[in-house]
Amino acid sequence: MQNAGITALGLDWKYLAFDVHPDELRSAIEGAKAMRYIGLNLTVPHKLLAMEMVDDLDESAREWGAVNTIRFEGRSEGVDWQPLGGLAMSGAAQVRSRGFNTDAEALACALREELRCNLAGSTVLVLGAGGAGRVAALKMAAEHAKELILINRTTEKAIAIADEIKRRFPNTATRVGYPAGAVDLVINATSLGLRPNDSLPFEESRFSLKNARAVYDMIYRPSESRLLETAKAAGCRTANGLGMLLYQGAKALEIWTGKPAPVEVMKKALEENIYGSRKPQ
Ligand code: ATR
Repeated sequence: MQNAGITALGLDWKYLAFDVHPDELRSAIEGAKAMRYIGLNLTVPHKLLAMEMVDDLDESAREWGAVNTIRFEGRSEGVDWQPLGGLAMSGAAQVRSRGFNTDAEALACALREELRCNLAGSTVLVLGAGGAGRVAALKMAAEHAKELILINRTTEKAIAIADEIKRRFPNTATRVGYPAGAVDLVINATSLGLRPNDSLPFEESRFSLKNARAVYDMIYRPSESRLLETAKAAGCRTANGLGMLLYQGAKALEIWTGKPAPVEVMKKALEENIYGSRKPQ
């Protein structure tokens, strides 16, 4: 996805994947900085650890408490901090790492683009209270959802997130439990659905998907989880998590280049890579 986007923008950069042990994350970031890399993406479990390891935090990383994108920036005499991907900054005298988060915005973007959701004023059921569930719930509140209902296997974690939302976004009515009536949107941020025999991520005796208008599953492999299959049969609009993966990457590329990302090119490359020629419905 990133290399397709880079090529389409006419850049001679390369996007590479590395396995880094959490104990060596600091050295890896410093090493990339010393080698004048343009930027990095990070995934679990590095997103939280990197908060303490970058030289500077963008507002997006501060807001969501996690870093999934790093941009290296250079400074020379008389020139303020500039992205290393920009003009002639590879010879910069000083370099710093700056952490960003593109996950939350990517979720909102996928919900708007793929499910035609109007988040403001909506009622949203969020399943899961891990790292992804927390960001999803907070982002829905930041987008002015009217009502947020949280469910998690470990209830205490959902309560902690509800408390954080009540503090930070008091205009959204937030509670832990099951919906009493219809919801506009259900978001699955649990790992239930990754395996073929997984149960649905909620108790079917307590909620029916007939009471949901749209369902977003952050899982994209399989392309249609049992949750999405059941939701489709119940008449809901559905989308899997590939859009979130796409938009977090597109936004990262924009942070590094300062240019609009070629989203369609990146989407095609991502679909080919994940699903091969067998494009899901
Ligand atoms: P991520 O960073 O992707 O959010 P995570 O923090 O490990 O990953 O969160 C995984 C989520 O899936 C959690 O909400 C977890 O529930 P718990 O908080 O109770 O652990 C949920 N989850 C994982 N396996 C589950 C299972 N078998 N049944 C129900 N929920 C499950």
